[in-house]
Amino acid sequence: MLEIKEVKNGIEENGFHAINNFLSDKELNLIRDEVEFLFSKNLIHGHGFSVYINPRRQEIPQAPSRIKSINLFEKSLDIMEILQKVDPEKYKNIRLAHMAIYKENKNPEWLRWHSDVRNGELTRCQIVLRGGQEKSGAFVYIPGSNKIDDIPYRPSKEYLLNNKDKMVMMNKPNGTAFIINTDGYHSRVPVETERISIMMDFVDKDYIKNNANDLGSNLVISFHQLTKRILDNINYFKIDINPNAFIANSSDNYRFNQKLGGYYMFILKPLYIIKSFLGKTEDY
Ligand SMILES: [Fe+2]
Repeated sequence: MLEIKEVKNGIEENGFHAINNFLSDKELNLIRDEVEFLFSKNLIHGHGFSVYINPRRQEIPQAPSRIKSINLFEKSLDIMEILQKVDPEKYKNIRLAHMAIYKENKNPEWLRWHSDVRNGELTRCQIVLRGGQEKSGAFVYIPGSNKIDDIPYRPSKEYLLNNKDKMVMMNKPNGTAFIINTDGYHSRVPVETERISIMMDFVDKDYIKNNANDLGSNLVISFHQLTKRILDNINYFKIDINPNAFIANSSDNYRFNQKLGGYYMFILKPLYIIKSFLGKTEDY
């Protein structure tokens, strides 16, 4: 039984909360099979397979609409309904702004510690399907850093050192839903094997309107996903997307930046190896 009080306390005090067994074992196994098949090939093999965002990270274009075993839009609705119970005022106009499925392949580097710096406007839900453990990219967070006013994008070395013991690793079983305030400092540990995760971003509808180039990925919903529940709650998915906005997480990104589809990694891999020697990492 989900205790809303606990979720509220976790999000507000620590900056995150874990909802155990958000996906049942059966759901987890079904979606893993589907997702692993889609990641096993890339776009040069046909529509719907993965693209390489960089040689270490793959994404399935319009992933939520490709998944058949679970209605991921209903899952996002579950999260939005929880958030509205947590804080009815703050989340009254909550919208699903973006959803994606990522695969990280062997990445020996930590993600750089950072804040997403969006003044509490973005609530993220991350569900790990594979990996996400101590040696496979577990998400890490500094509890309470969500409460720092005007938080700098990157924490100082001193801050990280002083808060070393507070860092929490979210290495919970796959299928757990982590609700995260990405204003707080977060990172992920190196991925020795692989990590596959679903990322859902939620914001107020006015945020998307006022920040056209930030979030809002114009998601595709498949016919079979338009269930009665989705249709009854269609407003949660109605966002004011500016068709001329260029959003990194949208399909525009593939159109303009990922022209080489699956070949991308083979060409850029040598550059990435050099980049890791220079100690340059990425964040998201
Ligand atoms: Fe981030």
